[in-house]
Amino acid sequence: MIKPHDLNSANTLFGGRLLEWIDEECAVYSICKLGTKHITTKFISEIDFVRPAKQGDIIEIGVEDAAVGRTSFSIRCSVRNYTTKEEIVNIAKIVYVAIDEKGRPVAHGVKK
Ligand SMILES: CC(C)(COP(=O)(O)OP(=O)(O)OC[C@H]1O[C@@H](n2cnc3c(N)ncnc32)[C@H](O)[C@@H]1OP(=O)(O)O)[C@@H](O)C(=O)NCCC(=O)NCCS
Repeated sequence: MIKPHDLNSANTLFGGRLLEWIDEECAVYSICKLGTKHITTKFISEIDFVRPAKQGDIIEIGVEDAAVGRTSFSIRCSVRNYTTKEEIVNIAKIVYVAIDEKGRPVAHGVKK
């Protein structure tokens, strides 16, 4: 739910706050899919802020698989207003990479 401290100077949802929520949600999704907590965000494609959201709105973050690589995992993300189902943000591609203890890419072992 969008609260007063999530707003920008135009009194709509601050984009930076939304990106924080998206990265966290997508990282948790990827952790579950890859079976490891040792991942890092590698790439986020163009971000289309389709519609504003306002205080009190409840939003839902939808995530779906896009591609599985050797060390990477790519997803798509769409954020909607839970009540009206209007799309708020759309991101075509977010890539997470599995890493070892030194931060180097490592095979995650998940099949395509
Ligand atoms: C993630 C990181 C370890 C990858 O290192 P790297 O030297 O680029 O590794 P590689 O070139 O071997 O690529 C690793 C994987 O990422 C993919 N990749 C690399 N650059 C990419 C890009 N620009 N877009 C999409 N995927 C990319 C590669 O295709 C590869 O996937 P695969 O193994 O499934 O084929 C390194 O870039 C890093 O530490 N970045 C900083 C991460 C970070 O701090 N994230 C938090 C953001 S604040």
